[in-house]
Amino acid sequence: MGKILVTGGAGFIGSHTVVELVQAGKDVVVLDNLSNSSEKSLDRVATIVGKKIPFYKADILDRDALEEIFSKESIDAVIHFAGLKAVGESTQKPWEYYENNIAGTLTLVDVMRKHGCKNIIFSSSATVYGNPAFIPITEECPKGQCTNPYGWTKSMLEQILSDIQKADNEWNVILLRYFNPIGAHKSGTIGENPNGIPNNLMPYITQVAVGKRDHLSVFGNDYDTHDGTGVRDYIHVVDLAIGHVKALQKIEEKAGLKIYNLGTGHGYSVLDIVKNFEEANGVKIPYEIVGRRPGDIATCYADPGLAKKELGWEAKYGIREMCEDSWRWQKNNPNGFED
Ligand code: NAD
Ligand code: WQD
Repeated sequence: MGKILVTGGAGFIGSHTVVELVQAGKDVVVLDNLSNSSEKSLDRVATIVGKKIPFYKADILDRDALEEIFSKESIDAVIHFAGLKAVGESTQKPWEYYENNIAGTLTLVDVMRKHGCKNIIFSSSATVYGNPAFIPITEECPKGQCTNPYGWTKSMLEQILSDIQKADNEWNVILLRYFNPIGAHKSGTIGENPNGIPNNLMPYITQVAVGKRDHLSVFGNDYDTHDGTGVRDYIHVVDLAIGHVKALQKIEEKAGLKIYNLGTGHGYSVLDIVKNFEEANGVKIPYEIVGRRPGDIATCYADPGLAKKELGWEAKYGIREMCEDSWRWQKNNPNGFED
């Protein structure tokens, strides 16, 4: 296989995936508009892997820029992370989310097919299951009602990419439904770097631990779970990254259309995470129970059996390492990629 284009490769999951791809011997090109990331993450990736990764600062909505990249580089497959992902913001700016994520992907896919590149791995999300019909969630679980425009962009893009593959079986399309990625590379030099107040649990906890926030607000303790707080399937971002390397092998075997859950199969509550974080790192996380967050569900965890069977992939890292690695990144980089 020739080169792999990683869109959104400067971001959280993208940067970790670039590391694993290069270490697996793949030839990688990165595209990112840096709207939610820093080019410095790619300098850190270069230090980890010992070589610079070709980078294009470009937008997936910019057809001319995409044309230039596909003309210059012989790209055989695209791993498509680029997209906006803040759930709350998507309810305030639905147009921007549909434009960026859907129009952006349509433009990317059109340029791809014009250049004869019909292999794509797409970042989808467990959010497409809505309030899941059953737990643990297999890929057979029906898709549900999303509670926000972000989720709908993922659900709609799954449909769009599936229809494109069905109409032209030269396409290989792998939809990867991520559960809750946390953790960071062992080096502590790359990690999640949210703008402003974090929406997600783990970056909020690490910001409390580093003294940037006073305490964690736990959104509800009256769910039907073992301690009343929400249960999720947290997965180490390096495991997730390795899942993409495995998916790429599947593409090389002419996958057609495939859908895989990438999760661990274990559910942890908010308070389980707080406790594990405190024990793993010897830091106290003060918290306060507040009301439920609109749109949240009680429980969500994967049955990751299909990815194990068909990709030979399963998560290796447990919750303790996820907590240790998230903290190492935050502690060493209290201001993210800013010095
Ligand atoms: P991220 O924001 O760190 O990475 C996304 C990257 O895409 C950023 O670097 C951003 O600058 C870039 N980008 C956004 N719009 C772009 C555009 N129009 N053109 C070019 N680049 C653009 O987010 P992440 O957590 O690494 O997520 C990666 C992908 O995985 C996203 O598609 C996200 O929706 C999906 N996903 C994330 C999670 C999660 O919890 N982090 C869960 C499920 C799915
Ligand atoms: C986890 C748990 C919260 C913050 C979201 C998206 C999903 C996917 C992953 C992209 C829940 C609780 C959180 C806080 C809290 N992203 N919590 N206090 O909601 O499972 O999934 O990110 O695709 O689409 O919806 O993740 O980390 O926000 O929340 O109590 O300050 O932590 O209520 O139970 P979520 P999360």
